[in-house]
Amino acid sequence: MSFIARRAFSSTAYNAHKVAVLGAAGGIGQPLSLLLKLNKDVTSLSLYDLRGTPGVAADLSHIPTNSVVKGFLPDNEGLKKALEGVEVVVIPAGVPRKPGMTRDDLFNTNASIVRDLAKAVAETAPKAFVAVIANPVNSTVPIVAEVFKSKGVYDPKRIFGVTTLDVIRSSRFISEIKDTDPTTETVTVVGGHSGHTIVPLISQSSHPDISGETLDALTHRIQFGGDEVVKAKDGAGSATLSMAEAGARFAGSLLKALKGEAITEPTYVDSPLYKSEGIEFFSSKVTLGPEGVKEVHGLGKLSPYEEKLIEVAKVDLKKNIQKGVDFVAANP
Ligand SMILES: NC(=O)c1ccc[n+]([C@@H]2O[C@H](COP(=O)([O-])OP(=O)(O)OC[C@H]3O[C@@H](n4cnc5c(N)ncnc54)[C@H](O)[C@@H]3O)[C@@H](O)[C@H]2O)c1
Repeated sequence: MSFIARRAFSSTAYNAHKVAVLGAAGGIGQPLSLLLKLNKDVTSLSLYDLRGTPGVAADLSHIPTNSVVKGFLPDNEGLKKALEGVEVVVIPAGVPRKPGMTRDDLFNTNASIVRDLAKAVAETAPKAFVAVIANPVNSTVPIVAEVFKSKGVYDPKRIFGVTTLDVIRSSRFISEIKDTDPTTETVTVVGGHSGHTIVPLISQSSHPDISGETLDALTHRIQFGGDEVVKAKDGAGSATLSMAEAGARFAGSLLKALKGEAITEPTYVDSPLYKSEGIEFFSSKVTLGPEGVKEVHGLGKLSPYEEKLIEVAKVDLKKNIQKGVDFVAANP
């Protein structure tokens, strides 16, 4: 091995990172785990689910990247073992939507799944960054926070709701209107992750000229883009492949942040922005660092159109957050 090759190898090894995916055998979990297997920042990948993970892990383990993949099931303390020493935990476990359902309709099933997984993370990997994909994200993130608080290990800088799918959809949808390269389009999406709580800030994109019916249609498509997939899948679930890409991007950003890179992107976190109005969590651009959230950015200058969207979003968000908090209080 040449000196340069050795240097490169040792620097990769130095930035060793253990990642766990909880719900790894599901529609999102499998392609997400594949993308994480391909991420050179990952050195160890723990795949946990109620079923199927030994097979998924064996399959992925044949891919010649440097990470070691292991599958875990609930027996023999599998969840605890999957979480030992991990720095990033991604949670796509839970049921997805069927046509006609809102994300909030998933609450009854997913709330207890997320609560129980959060308990295990709080006990075994309390310092890990936790990226919550399971819906309704507006409520599941407060559930994780409440569980961590009850265990005395809550660090608001380390718990994230993954809203990246709204961000990548926005890049795609705006590029279709403007006939541009979607990889060059960046749209900041703030608020939460469901329907009217999803607020794209088109006035801050490269196309502030989009207005009138075009702006209405674009905004609606970003807010309800998930429904297009749910409808097309016709009962077989919701977005899995685009969500895997979004989840892998966000987990990748957390890994870069752990290495000391300052990354800024939207995510749903414990946020100071609207706390005075009783809204404890909000998605906005966040700068990530080795300790997690380094800075929560304000929304910047909004158009009157966006100000109205924010007002609508805040009403739903407040209820969604309270629902998560109340759930943990009533079902500890
Ligand atoms: N944040 C987002 O943007 C976004 C986008 C799409 C879907 N989602 C959500 O992600 C979740 C998963 O969607 P999916 O399509 O992968 O569903 P899926 O049903 O295909 O997979 C879910 C997996 O979770 C597993 N699971 C259930 N309970 C578990 C537990 N207690 N411990 C470990 N694993 C458990 C199941 O066995 C299954 O393999 C849903 O809640 C969905 O609404 C979020």
